[in-house]
Amino acid sequence: MQVVETDRVIIVGAGLGALYAALKLAPHPVVMISPEVLGEGASSAWAQGGVAAAMDSADSPESHAADTVKAGAGTVNPTVADLVTREARDYILDLTTMGTPFDRTEDGDYVLSREAAHSFARVVRVKGDQAGAQIMAALIAQVRETPSIQVLEGTMASDLELSHGRVTGVVIQEADDGRSGPVLLRGAAVLLAGGGSGGLYALTTNPPRIRGQVIGMAARAGALIADAEFVQFHPTAMDVGEDPAPLATEALRGEGAILINKHGERFMQAIHPDAELAPRDIVARAIYAEVKAGNRPMLDTREVLGEAIKARFPAVAEYCARNGIDPAVDPIPVAPAAHYHMGGIATDTQGCATLKGLWVCGEASSTGLHGANRLASNGLLEALVFARICAQGIAQSLTGVADAVTLNITFSNDGTPPAPEAVQALRQTMTQNVGVVRDHDGLTHALVTIAALEDAHGDSPSFLNMCATATLIAAGALVRQESRGAHERSDFPDPADGPGQRSEMYLTDALAVRAQACKELS
Ligand code: SIN
Repeated sequence: MQVVETDRVIIVGAGLGALYAALKLAPHPVVMISPEVLGEGASSAWAQGGVAAAMDSADSPESHAADTVKAGAGTVNPTVADLVTREARDYILDLTTMGTPFDRTEDGDYVLSREAAHSFARVVRVKGDQAGAQIMAALIAQVRETPSIQVLEGTMASDLELSHGRVTGVVIQEADDGRSGPVLLRGAAVLLAGGGSGGLYALTTNPPRIRGQVIGMAARAGALIADAEFVQFHPTAMDVGEDPAPLATEALRGEGAILINKHGERFMQAIHPDAELAPRDIVARAIYAEVKAGNRPMLDTREVLGEAIKARFPAVAEYCARNGIDPAVDPIPVAPAAHYHMGGIATDTQGCATLKGLWVCGEASSTGLHGANRLASNGLLEALVFARICAQGIAQSLTGVADAVTLNITFSNDGTPPAPEAVQALRQTMTQNVGVVRDHDGLTHALVTIAALEDAHGDSPSFLNMCATATLIAAGALVRQESRGAHERSDFPDPADGPGQRSEMYLTDALAVRAQACKELS
């Protein structure tokens, strides 16, 4: 394999955490491994709601932390919740300085949206539902002007190199179809900021490239994975037959939009005192039950927003328009879809994984902030906070500022892309058997299917990474014999007695669970 040595810090990913870390590392030279042109293909750019931060004078970081802990169903690390919420305001001010055009009142205060399970309106937003895209645009403009940052657009990572237990490099290839041969890039340090796993599911709100590859790559290298079974399903993905499913932001429910079924019944009031603003897992399960009952659940914005939805939530309005829905006249059909992976590569409060020389931030990590059910709009906040922490830790590990020699990499043409039919089969089994409601038989079936797909198509490193993450999610879900937050087991409907426990697994543990499942069904 071709080997390229660089003094640059290697950042895998191009979402919010990756961009922010690259900027905070300047003037240390950085190379970003970005599968698409910057701004395209990262989940962060698709985030509609915004960034949660206690900006109202009546609100407080303590209240934000308490809501985070409560939503997380007994498995949030309170130290991490304090750390992240305490600094939230500073990050909003920093993003503002960097050019993010947050919505403001006539008095200049930040406009704050209400989202589920927050006891205050505390989601800072841009043009209604444009937060992710606009924050990303502001940071990308800065990255483009920062000479220490080189972006390798159209590349993705497939493996980590370890030497004496320390991560020393990343194997990369061209991202277009995975046909290019691998190149080993050895750098000064490695930060993984390459997103979560939503695209491992057939029903997802995540961009197509986000299929658990980064978590799987770290797991295959021997990193500890935490809370793998905790996958959040967004209740109101639009049920319009698109893959990925467009999102109808929770902020619509914060504005008073209601959930009804085809009979016109408002079903959330009977399920939770907060009705449509109940915690996300509860709303997702209620909508799932309506889907299963053939009741066609819908989000009704007609009375509360009417025509105003088109100006106030332009992304949602555009998704409706391209599917022939006029939300001022018709309710929007919705279904739960895989949206955010609370689990991921286990990190400490310094953003360090269990492998030496490896830092992780954003959705690929599991810091302990989200527990079993992430509080809405805490994802972008966590990415920012840990991107800066990682950047500081990496900078401290470097000796001086290296020269930013530009990398010029030529790829060969002998790689193996993932087989599209295998990826689709994997996604189908995840949605059918490891989705909103799980049980022993479905999870066992999923593990057997993943093993068979991996056996048949394991010559593609990218597909191996997907299978590793899928195995960790399904094995974690099988081992966790209780229902907690977003992890619902129909055969274990209650939470286990005593305090909630986070889960920790190496890939070898998950493979042992998978082997047992294969034995059971053989
Ligand atoms: C939304 O806008 O509903 C999504 C926000 C989030 O997932 O944090």
